[in-house]
Amino acid sequence: MGMKIAIGCDHGALALKETVKKVVSELGLEADDLGTFTEESVDYPDIAEKVCEKIASGDAVRGVVLCGTGIGISMAANKIRGIRCALCGDVYSARMARAHNDANVLALGGRVLGPGLAAEIVRAFFTQDFEGGRHARRVGKIMALENNNI
Ligand code: RB5
Repeated sequence: MGMKIAIGCDHGALALKETVKKVVSELGLEADDLGTFTEESVDYPDIAEKVCEKIASGDAVRGVVLCGTGIGISMAANKIRGIRCALCGDVYSARMARAHNDANVLALGGRVLGPGLAAEIVRAFFTQDFEGGRHARRVGKIMALENNNI
């Protein structure tokens, strides 16, 4: 089995989480499903925390977080140290999130995207490498903002 990918959603993206897991497995990666598993309403910051904790601890290399729009869960993920979460609604952005921003978490909206487009976005995100170079300097500046107490 390949590198572990932590995956979590709230009740607004249960079905899309299944699509994401399938595509991740097809890419030879290990999908680690951290829930939620039922239609019962849950709070997306709790899911973001669960997924990102796995990445911060080194247990997973990357993650996918989903909520109804992808907005709330991406906001929550980006509050966690070491996380660069990109909310993507198109394939180009998913590719650039990796190539230029070295995003380690992909956020998707379960009430926004159909399964076909979402699958292509996931494929783009997990097959594109970070380009480094001048982009590494900029990503370094993003991460430095974590230590900025304004
Ligand atoms: C839950 O109803 C909804 O607010 C959530 O899934 C997400 O869209 C928030 O950003």
